[in-house]
Amino acid sequence: MSGVLGAAFAYGGDYNPEQWPEDVWRDDVTLMNRAGVNLASVGIFSWARLEPRDGEFDFAWLDEVLGLLHAGGVRVDLATATASPPPWLALKHPEMLPVTEEGVTLSSGSRQAYCPSSPVYRRYAARLVTAIVERYADHPALELWHVGNEYGCHVSHCYCDASAVAFRAWLATRYGTVEALNDAWGTAFWSQRYDSFDEILPPRAAPSFKNPTQLLDFDRFSADELLECYRVEVAVIRASSSVPITTNFMGFFKGADYWAWAREVDVVSDDSYPDPGDPLSPVYGAMQRDLIRSLGGGKPWLLMEQSPSAVNWRERNAAKRPGQMRAWSYQCIGRGADGILFFQWRQAKAGAEKFHAGMVPHAGTDTRVFREVQELGAELADLSATGLLGSRVEARVAVVFDWTSWWAIEQEASPTRLSYVEGVFAWYRALTAVGVTIDFVSPDSDLAPYAVVVAPSLFVATDAQLAALDAYTANGVTLVASFQTGIVDENLHIRLGGYLGALRQTLGVWVEEFAPPTAPDLAATGGGVPAPLALRGDAVGGAGAAKLWGESVRVEGATVSASFDGGVLDGQPAITRNGRGAGTGWYVATLPDDATLARFAAGVIAEAGVATLPRVAGVEFVQRGSATIAINHGSADAALDLLGTDALTGAPGAGLVLAPQGVAVLVREVAAVAP
Ligand code: GLA
Repeated sequence: MSGVLGAAFAYGGDYNPEQWPEDVWRDDVTLMNRAGVNLASVGIFSWARLEPRDGEFDFAWLDEVLGLLHAGGVRVDLATATASPPPWLALKHPEMLPVTEEGVTLSSGSRQAYCPSSPVYRRYAARLVTAIVERYADHPALELWHVGNEYGCHVSHCYCDASAVAFRAWLATRYGTVEALNDAWGTAFWSQRYDSFDEILPPRAAPSFKNPTQLLDFDRFSADELLECYRVEVAVIRASSSVPITTNFMGFFKGADYWAWAREVDVVSDDSYPDPGDPLSPVYGAMQRDLIRSLGGGKPWLLMEQSPSAVNWRERNAAKRPGQMRAWSYQCIGRGADGILFFQWRQAKAGAEKFHAGMVPHAGTDTRVFREVQELGAELADLSATGLLGSRVEARVAVVFDWTSWWAIEQEASPTRLSYVEGVFAWYRALTAVGVTIDFVSPDSDLAPYAVVVAPSLFVATDAQLAALDAYTANGVTLVASFQTGIVDENLHIRLGGYLGALRQTLGVWVEEFAPPTAPDLAATGGGVPAPLALRGDAVGGAGAAKLWGESVRVEGATVSASFDGGVLDGQPAITRNGRGAGTGWYVATLPDDATLARFAAGVIAEAGVATLPRVAGVEFVQRGSATIAINHGSADAALDLLGTDALTGAPGAGLVLAPQGVAVLVREVAAVAP
């Protein structure tokens, strides 16, 4: 089968030859060949080298680099180089610099020092891309275009005057009249009424709570502006090249609604840096891979960046343990990746990232990191023939992930402070503990392929989205909605008549009042004091505990499957179950702790008849195509008993023992067995 970029797994990394003297370049290509590198992302931060002075381009060095890579058989993911404008541009046009909410102008001397709405930035970026495309569109090494880099990573929102102008235009398009905007923003409150669009500003620092709908619209606008920067460059490329285009996503990144972005890239690619020092990283990593695969509708994707070992930007930068980089790479492959790339090829000698690991470390090639890089390269080359490449991951369980709800639920003026992604992660952990594979969906996705759909705190939902959730449920889907779902419409106006009103029929309940536990309540859960958020009922296996949120639920047709046990909500419903047409609507009015949530999830999955993967402590399993991938993230040997043969070693699955960080790729027929 062919993969996302051809007949082999892509393998390589960011390559920044402009940071090294020319005599290193030849050595680089030789070493890339040794390491099995077949794809290099070139020139991502090279604007200042490519255009050292306004309108003067210097491509000679890049010609040579691309020529060397081509001669060495290394394909190129060629950057448009626009992620870091050069100092001369900021000096000439200081109005393109980004401004924070407090009015601080951010200078050049780092990277990404541009306002996404700046017409100047966009014009200069388009001119550079035009020159690059003219020169390299037909270059024989070109495999992929790499537009920008991690859009919004440092500056996702800009509050400058150019942004204000663009925001007003965006609002005029969205609302048509200022009256409609006043209505949507609820500006009757606190004397916020606008008489014309010209009076409106970005939500700059203010004395107290800002207008919630203004904030949400500014999040929407800012995400759209980043996407527009990408589109400007894509239009230039598309005019003369049909080579596929990507830009690197950042997993659960708040500043960009990747459902919208994913529709505009040819290849979904992702940068991912789970903390090797955090025991939850393997499952968080799995969640990120599943999101990325889901963004592309299940198509194979590329891991554009991971670190070969430590990063440089955490307070404590843990090195990856021996085998951990390989294990996490296979997690990506198991969850749909057709390529594994790193930041970066050669560990830098100077600059702010010199302590970030590279495939070729400071100490050279006689190192653990280089050996592991080389071994994985060889292994992936062999694995390319096994049928794994290009194959898909199937899931019967989906989790709704919605950027709009994320933006809105974490605003300051809310019923309680909570982290949207933490809530989603809690559900993800529970469902994976049960042994199911998860797709992420947007509230507008087709849910028919799924047996179970979980909507954790889908705070903002349109009438159409709520109607769709109801219709899918009535047609047989099991819907699990958790607290703070469907509370407000797209303008953040409360849905009156009892919270959940619009899902009343689906769930058979409505919510009268929020009663989240206070900090002292939660503190009292330690030290043997009965937890104010204790739960009892069949849905939690008799008894359980919850760690966040409570509310007064009024039952209207549903069955109470678990109740709060003690505290102000004593005896009130915590988990309810409702028959809705051919389906079922569960409502969970709290956030159970991990063990309780896993027991509940196991019951839901069993009732829905979804098949589960094997479960062995510390071992991750995932099915991709006809292969089962097993990865031991634990610290002890794991004894497995699986069908098929390990394509990596030729060993039979029956009686297989996986050492810590060990990986097996079990296939029924092995086309190529690594020596
Ligand atoms: C991001 C960027 C890279 C580099 C790495 C470091 O992913 O895209 O340029 O800064 O972080 O981890």
